Order: sequence, then structure tokens, then C-alpha cells
Amino acid sequence: MLMLLQLLLIIIYNCNMYICICNAVTESEIVSSVQNGNENLDSVSVNLGVGMYCGSCVQVAKALIEVAKGDEHKRSRTQLAHSLTD
Ligand code: FES
Repeated sequence: MLMLLQLLLIIIYNCNMYICICNAVTESEIVSSVQNGNENLDSVSVNLGVGMYCGSCVQVAKALIEVAKGDEHKRSRTQLAHSLTD
């Protein structure tokens, strides 16, 4: 499951994919929200609506928020994958 999440995050980071389909929220919008001070899922949810409906985006959104908080989106794919297993 963790490997699948890692692979999904790598794809998301390279494609600016939609994370929350219900609210049409993209990866870059979540990263921007974190950079603007929303540092947890509750805060990002209030800001963007992530996870407010079906909830299927919550796990990926949480992982993405943690990566964005660590400014790890500037790292290479390999470094990103390793950081998620720590
Ligand atoms: S995909 Fe995010 S609430 Fe449904």
C-alpha cells in the first residue's frame, strides 16, 4: 500500500493531477495552500474543500501536505520516494 502511495505521489508531483475530484482540487493548489500557512488536512479542507465529500482523497492529500510542509517537492523523484518511507 505504501509503495502504491509513493508511486501515486511521484506521478502527482510530475503532472499536477487532481487530488480531490469532488472539489476539483489539484496538487499545486494543495501545495500553495500549505505554503500559505495551512499545515494540516483540516486547515487545507477549510481552505479548498479537500476531503469534504466522499473522502477518497484524504490519504493522498495528507501525504502531499506532509511533503509540501517539508518543501520536499523540490527534491528528485528518488529522494521523494525515500522520504515517504521514513
Ligand atoms: S475526492 Fe476528495 S472528497 Fe471526494
